[in-house]
Amino acid sequence: TLQRVYVTRQIPPEGLRILRESGQVQLDLWDSDDVPVPREELLRQVRGVDGLVCVLTEKIDTELLDAAGPNLKVLSTMSVGFDHLSLEELKKRGIRVGYTPDVLTDSVAELTVALLLTTSRRLIEATHEAKTGGWGTWRTLWLCGHELANSTVGILGLGRIGVAIAERLAPFKVKKFIYADVAPRPELASVIDAEYVSFDELAERSDFLAVCCALTPETKEICNKHLFSKMKNTSIFINTSRGGVVNQEDLYEALSTGQIAGAGLDVTVPEPLPTDHPLFTLKNCVILPHIASASHTTRNAMSAMAANNLLLGLRGEPMIKELHS
Ligand code: GLV
Ligand code: GLV
Repeated sequence: TLQRVYVTRQIPPEGLRILRESGQVQLDLWDSDDVPVPREELLRQVRGVDGLVCVLTEKIDTELLDAAGPNLKVLSTMSVGFDHLSLEELKKRGIRVGYTPDVLTDSVAELTVALLLTTSRRLIEATHEAKTGGWGTWRTLWLCGHELANSTVGILGLGRIGVAIAERLAPFKVKKFIYADVAPRPELASVIDAEYVSFDELAERSDFLAVCCALTPETKEICNKHLFSKMKNTSIFINTSRGGVVNQEDLYEALSTGQIAGAGLDVTVPEPLPTDHPLFTLKNCVILPHIASASHTTRNAMSAMAANNLLLGLRGEPMIKELHS
């Protein structure tokens, strides 16, 4: 008999094709990509399912797991991040959890480099000036930014994505990579010849500081006024991980007082960030709507991996990528 699966979003075609052609599952789907499934609808739809495919807009918590009931054996999220999942609760109930690392590393690293350069070379300000009459003449110090050549790049939380970012930045003649983490990661660090430093030293020495850690209780708002006060006033802060690792009020303060030179954010709290949010008023803050993994290739690969993780999990086999808490 077919196992019942609910998919909380119209995910890219590759994953849906794999699920539909598997002959293994009976599929129900929130058939839109433009609006997330309303919570009430989600709670109703998950009742009695064996498997669930979700994206990062769905909170998978006690209430939802209670609504699903004891049949639920496998949760598969189409994301590398897992802060929307109550891992402890999932573990307690013996529910296996699949996620989608690796396939998005290239895309996220590419976007991070793009955001870093956009922020450091003030590209958004520059195009705005060019088209709104600010371009009076060529000027010697107008729109000057900060360059990567001879810089020190710091990575907070060295994993696959941090390494991929550093590999792409190295050809820009970065002088030195440093990283801070809960423990040294010698194997990953050796790939990019990065030095392990303390959190404070990371703040003090980085000309560019890229946040690449997962959001967990330990990393929540770890980027706060303590960190910003130790950074140089010429330094650029980049976050493509999760908005929750940053205290946004402290960041606003650091940016508006010139304590740091600029910030590029792909992630915020909340998402979407309200259009009247103070961070949007700052010229030295570039904000993107959480698009780091948004390439056609990558989103289809994430969709396929999420589908395969689910099918493998439901068959009691090892998933391609499984989270163990
Ligand atoms: C995106 O942010 C993801 O977690 O995949
Ligand atoms: C990766 O975690 C992303 O932000 O897409």
